[in-house]
Amino acid sequence: MGLEIAGRDVSYIPVITTIALGIYVVWNAVCRSKDAVINLSVDKKEEKVVNSMDIEDIGDSIAFCRCWRSKKFPLCDGAHNAHNKKTGDNVGPMCLKRKSKS
Ligand code: FES
Repeated sequence: MGLEIAGRDVSYIPVITTIALGIYVVWNAVCRSKDAVINLSVDKKEEKVVNSMDIEDIGDSIAFCRCWRSKKFPLCDGAHNAHNKKTGDNVGPMCLKRKSKS
């Protein structure tokens, strides 16, 4: 005697539902995380975040954030270290350095 609805055995429904839920949870954890949003907090009201600066305003060196976690975005403030430690990622800044004139 199993689960019945209108005289029909539907005891398979909880099993199928549990399997489907398990597949969804695994798919969500493995596949969807690759499509996750990168920018969590920078200028979220803007349709697209675009930053610019004059080359002349860059000193001898500058580091641009590529992890989108910097509080000084678009400049790197070292927040990528905590991000990498937390997620196992390996992101770091884009560093520009002026050649020395010698
Ligand atoms: S803080 Fe984002 S790359 Fe350093």
